[in-house]
Amino acid sequence: MTDQEPYGPKRNVVITGASGGIGFYIARALLAHGHDLTLVARDSDRGRQATERLAGLAQDGQRVTFEPADLTHLQEVHRLADRLLEQQAKIDVLVNNAGRYVHDFARSDDGFETTFALNHLAPFVLTHRLMPALNQSDAPTVVTTASMAERVGPIDLERFASGVPYSAWRAYGWSKQANVHFARELARRAPHIASASFHPGFVATGFGHSGGGLLTPLLKGAQRLFGRTPEQGADTGAWLAAHPQRINPNGGYFVDRDAQTPSKAGRDDTMAAELWRRSEAWAGLDDALKLNPA
Ligand SMILES: NC(=O)c1ccc[n+]([C@@H]2O[C@H](COP(=O)([O-])OP(=O)(O)OC[C@H]3O[C@@H](n4cnc5c(N)ncnc54)[C@H](OP(=O)(O)O)[C@@H]3O)[C@@H](O)[C@H]2O)c1
Repeated sequence: MTDQEPYGPKRNVVITGASGGIGFYIARALLAHGHDLTLVARDSDRGRQATERLAGLAQDGQRVTFEPADLTHLQEVHRLADRLLEQQAKIDVLVNNAGRYVHDFARSDDGFETTFALNHLAPFVLTHRLMPALNQSDAPTVVTTASMAERVGPIDLERFASGVPYSAWRAYGWSKQANVHFARELARRAPHIASASFHPGFVATGFGHSGGGLLTPLLKGAQRLFGRTPEQGADTGAWLAAHPQRINPNGGYFVDRDAQTPSKAGRDDTMAAELWRRSEAWAGLDDALKLNPA
């Protein structure tokens, strides 16, 4: 297998948070492999512009479409899933990439803290809802953008969903550790799915730019000086998404195309299983959608 060699002739890919930053460049790399793309983002203008840019690079017969959804709110996650399942009988690759650092405490329509809702609960629910289409693929693949912020320490399950009392960095770190747990537990419960999480590095994107006070200018300066380009930040995610056999071990956490051991808290299997059970309840998942442990 070479770096350029994709899996299969043409795969159907859904990527959240693809209007800019890391997600856009994962999309661009998978487009170059010949795959069909559905981009998801909250902002319709940015989403459509990204879609047009990618459509301009597409080969004849390749499809690039856009679906707007604010994934902070469960109703929008469900509506997105309904639309995708209506349009697409088979989804080969789901890239759960949309995520934010939320400086000021806010709640979703469902009453959850926003970072938790967008970064953890949305990919959890979207993956469950898209399972009928993923199950039609000969090699279903789910890649989730995590972060080395997962090293924040153990998630406090009593405070994770409410975010009270609020610490923006802790909420973000817990959500990224939840991404690591999610990828591993998904592989345990649905071993036919190639599931991975990855850390993209410190990347010069729009990440953190809606922060308050001094944070935004400081972060922008640091991104300019030390940040990877979004294309470099997308590399590991695109590499994993392009070929399920690269996801070894299944459920693994990858940095720079390499399987790495997450923090002690991030590799706690008891936490991963408990977080999964609680997430089913937080999301109000129907029994029919639940994935039972193998
Ligand atoms: N940049 C870094 O240094 C870094 C490091 C580690 C991990 N990460 C992770 O990388 C992922 C991508 O972030 P990025 O750095 O590329 O940031 P970004 O440039 O801000 O891109 C974020 C993407 O997520 C979308 N998004 C944000 N809120 C959304 C919502 N409520 N519903 C749907 N889509 C939403 C944005 O779409 P809109 O255009 O609609 O806002 C955009 O496409 C995140 O999960 C982040 O945690 C980033």
